[in-house]
Amino acid sequence: MKKLNLLGCFLLGCFMVKAQDSTIKSSVKNVEAKVDSVLTLMTLEEKVGQLVQYNGSWDLTGPASEMNNKQKEENLKAGKVGAMLNVLSVDATREAQKLVMENSRLQIPLMFGYDVIHGYTTIFPVPLAETASWDLEAMERTAEIAALESAANGVNWTFSPMIDVSRDARWGRIMEGSGEDPYLTSKVAVAKVKGYQSEDLANPRSIAATAKHFAGYGFGEAGRDYNTVHIGENELHNTILPPFKAAADAGVATFMNAFNDLDGIPATGHKTLQRDILKRDWDWNGFVVSDWGSIPEMIAHGIAKDKKEAAKIALNAGSDMDMEGGAYESSLVDLVEEGEVSEDYINDAVKRVLRVKFKLGLFDDPYLYSNANLLDQISFEEHKAVARDVAKKSIVLLKNEKDLLPIKEFVKKIAVIGPLADDKDTPIGNWRAQGEANSAVSLLEGLQNNNDENVEISYAKGADLGVGERSFLMPLEINETDKSGFEEAINTASEADLVIVALGEDAFQTGEGRSQVNIGLAGVQQELLEEIYKVNQNVVLVLINGRPLEITWAAENIPAIVEAWQLGSESGNAIADVLLGDYNPSGKLPVSFPRAVGQEPLYYNQKSTGRPSNPTHVTYSGYTDEKKDALYPFGFGLSYTDFEYGDLQLSSEEMDANGSIEASITLSNIGNVEGKEIVQLYLRDLVASTTRPVKELKGFEAVNLAPGESKTVTFEIDEEMLQFYNANRKWESEAGEFEVFIGGNSRDLQKATFSLKK
Ligand code: BGC
Repeated sequence: MKKLNLLGCFLLGCFMVKAQDSTIKSSVKNVEAKVDSVLTLMTLEEKVGQLVQYNGSWDLTGPASEMNNKQKEENLKAGKVGAMLNVLSVDATREAQKLVMENSRLQIPLMFGYDVIHGYTTIFPVPLAETASWDLEAMERTAEIAALESAANGVNWTFSPMIDVSRDARWGRIMEGSGEDPYLTSKVAVAKVKGYQSEDLANPRSIAATAKHFAGYGFGEAGRDYNTVHIGENELHNTILPPFKAAADAGVATFMNAFNDLDGIPATGHKTLQRDILKRDWDWNGFVVSDWGSIPEMIAHGIAKDKKEAAKIALNAGSDMDMEGGAYESSLVDLVEEGEVSEDYINDAVKRVLRVKFKLGLFDDPYLYSNANLLDQISFEEHKAVARDVAKKSIVLLKNEKDLLPIKEFVKKIAVIGPLADDKDTPIGNWRAQGEANSAVSLLEGLQNNNDENVEISYAKGADLGVGERSFLMPLEINETDKSGFEEAINTASEADLVIVALGEDAFQTGEGRSQVNIGLAGVQQELLEEIYKVNQNVVLVLINGRPLEITWAAENIPAIVEAWQLGSESGNAIADVLLGDYNPSGKLPVSFPRAVGQEPLYYNQKSTGRPSNPTHVTYSGYTDEKKDALYPFGFGLSYTDFEYGDLQLSSEEMDANGSIEASITLSNIGNVEGKEIVQLYLRDLVASTTRPVKELKGFEAVNLAPGESKTVTFEIDEEMLQFYNANRKWESEAGEFEVFIGGNSRDLQKATFSLKK
């Protein structure tokens, strides 16, 4: 009887929710009152239940938990689970939701999370690639589509965007983020949050987003995944945190913490990060989910002696939900009763979880995302068109000598060579959600689909990249020896007017746990390239990869190089658009390409050091056997046209703390075709209370110009743009001299100087 009364109140009276309208979710206005009302109904056990997340399938991303499915089912029925992950499809989520709704006392709906990283069914470029488009609108649109396809399949929460600034190409997860720059990553973070969540979560086509991994995960020592992170306060605040702050300000519903430790404290047990910075200083009111099992992993970190202590440390530090770690469910009730964890902290965590559930509309209709009709409304053809559009914008032209590209009309015989040339799977990349295996348009198919019929296209694979089965959980075994296909490839190449060689990395060479000490062309690929080049020098190298590669030989010898990443479902068509000149490439690198792996971590926005450059003497901060700069720097990318930058003009050489100045430059298209240039603004604080980067990206603008056309691009610089986390441990600007740079990449820039008066 008690159950019925509570339930009646819950569904009908207490919250004045219109449960009959399944498409319009409850307004967020009354969310706080509703959250408080629910909280007062809850027992301690039920509260702890909201902080527990279970995996729901065997698509594991970490070690399996010890609990069997039967036990999980019982716990769901008892209201001891707040969320699940990897439960996919409207039927599966409905079934799981039913267990809760038809059996538990309070019927608090579950959230269903999933790693929707670059698309759900329609697969877009991997995030690093997509960032190379510098097209925030396009990135918002792909998140919106990913959200729709997820929502139509029962998923209402994505563990994305991954906004770990990462500067080490050895780290396999560099493909999942937006590269080396905090400003660009912040912009992408906001675009993604907007795209996934829409204006507010009260939209059944939108889903909750997650800013991850909080924090420092991209800085694992030596590029090793899960490894120790030694960064100080200065780097943490100036480099790592800005994208997270931007996501929090944009209203991201959840954060995920991280596997790594940060200067001695695991991120999952890091109170300063989660409770002080995120929740107190930034006043963010969503919830923090742990990374997979990262709470009990504090035992291996040597911070907790057992699960119970790990649970205590994590909850006290502000980790609200335990993803598949089994620590909260086994210990939190006891910890509260023993006075080791305060119930206020539990209440705060539960309120955070309930708040997101209310905002998602789950209290109005727990089955809102288990609605089969949404799937019927999706135009996958339209989504594919978007995938092709963003994929072509993500391609970066690294080199184009001998005027090989776009492919000219007199080219009548094209040889397409390489292990990745007709690979329909690798472009789908890692973290592919429900992207079907082998479903991408391969490069060969793209050329065949889009080519002039008078042109003969021949194909020879040349070699395999890997040996044996590929899998999400095992590293790929690279083919180091089998060159049996070389002869056919060499013959095919020798008869062609132009050779397109597609090399790079397998889909599962990057991603979680995929750190590598070698980042060149793996296996026999380099040799294949050199053999082809010996018989035909008209080679276009198309790189298909998820991380920056060491391609120094190719950069010196091969006349044309196209960075085509792992571009998703429409990969081949997008590459053909660029090779055939239907799209003039406009992508710019979001990450530096090294001359040698020994330069890693490598990034443009480095500090000066006390001995920045004196190449005539060994005692400077470089190498004796290699230059210290990048082979291809951050922001770099060519076009089929040429752009000329005029002089950089400042509206004033002095700026007031309350005022602003304008930096302008005239850009001209001096080539023969229309093109798009990403004009980039960088700043440098010359003398400050802490050391500052030699330059930092602070703005960019895409400019389309017809041949012969010019446009003046103006950036406004204000005091806020000059702020940094300084020696006072505050975000402040400091009076003094600044340099302004504008140009088409982080290396080739026009410069001017101004001073800030305070
Ligand atoms: C990854 C997270 C991911 C989670 C759930 C972990 O191994 O680090 O990024 O969201 O698994 O799949």
